[in-house]
Amino acid sequence: MKICASISEARSACRDARANHRRVGLVPTMGALHEGHLSLVRAARAQCDVVAVSIFVNPTQFGPAEDLSKYPRQFERDCRLLEQEGVDILFAPSIEEMYPQGAISWVVVEGLSEKLDGRSRPGHFRGVTTVVAKLFHVIEPDAAYFGQKDAAQLAVIRRMVRDLDFPVEIVACPIVREADGLAMSSRNAYLNREERQRALVLQRSLQETQRQFQAGERSAARLISAAKEVFLSEPQVRLDYFEVVDPEMLDPVEHISGRTLVAVAAFVGTTRLIDNVVLEP
Ligand code: PAJ
Repeated sequence: MKICASISEARSACRDARANHRRVGLVPTMGALHEGHLSLVRAARAQCDVVAVSIFVNPTQFGPAEDLSKYPRQFERDCRLLEQEGVDILFAPSIEEMYPQGAISWVVVEGLSEKLDGRSRPGHFRGVTTVVAKLFHVIEPDAAYFGQKDAAQLAVIRRMVRDLDFPVEIVACPIVREADGLAMSSRNAYLNREERQRALVLQRSLQETQRQFQAGERSAARLISAAKEVFLSEPQVRLDYFEVVDPEMLDPVEHISGRTLVAVAAFVGTTRLIDNVVLEP
C-alpha cells in the first residue's frame, strides 16, 4: 500500500494507476476504522482495479462545540487493516495540506445542507461537501463508496455530484451493525457501558417504525409518534430528530407512497448517534 501525505503524491499515484484504463475506487473516511468502513473498502475492492482510501479528520465539518479534538485517531492500526484488505493507495494528508492558509472557497448544496443533521449541525455539510469535492479532484475516482449509515450525507453528496458534473459514480453500501443491532460508528467508542446499552433505543425506534409500516401504517405522523414513545423508555437519551423524509431531497413526507427514509439522531450522554432505515412500499 502506498501511503501519500501530499496532494501531488496522491494525484500522481492515482493518475499512474488510471493510465491503463484501470478503474479507480475511492473510500473517503475519517479513520478509526471499523467493519462499516471495511465493508466499503471490500465493495470497492470487488468492483475496482485500484482502491484508494482517504483518512482525514476534516476540521471544517465539526462545529466549534463538537468533538474534533477528541475524535479517535488510530493511524497505525488503520494502516494495518487497510493493508489486509488489499488497499493500493492511502491518502492521509495533514490539515495544512488540505486547507492552504487563507482558503475561502466552499462547496455548498444549498437547502439540502440545512436538513436533518445539517439543521442540528450548522455548517457540517458545507465542510463535508467541500472536503469530498477536494478528494474527488485529487484522486479523480471512477467510483466513490459511501455508507447508507449517513443517509443525509449520501443525499447531499449525490446532489453535489449531479449538480456540478463530477465524473464519478456514487455507490451506497448498507449499514453494518454490531451483533445487538447498534449501527457501527467511530463515535461508539465514546460510550460507557450504560450508555452503550441505552444507545440501542435508536435501533428499537426504527424497528417499531418498520413493524408498524409492515402492518400497513402509512401515516408519517403516526409512525413518528409511535417511535417517540419508544424513546420514552430511555429518558436519559435525548432525541435530536426523528424524521420521515424523501431520500433525495430530505423533505418530510406525510403519507408514505414511495421509497422513504426514516432517520433518527439522538444524544446518548454527550455522544450524538444517528441511524436510519429505508421503507419500500
Ligand atoms: P466517517 O464517519 O469515517 O465514515 C466514512 C464512511 O463510512 C461514510 O461513507 C460512512 O457512511 C461509512 N460508514 C460509517 N459507519 C458505517 C456503518 N456502520 N455501515 C456502513 N457504512 C458506514 O462520513 C465521514 O467519515 C466523513 O463525513 C467523510 C465522508 C469522510 C468526509 O469527511
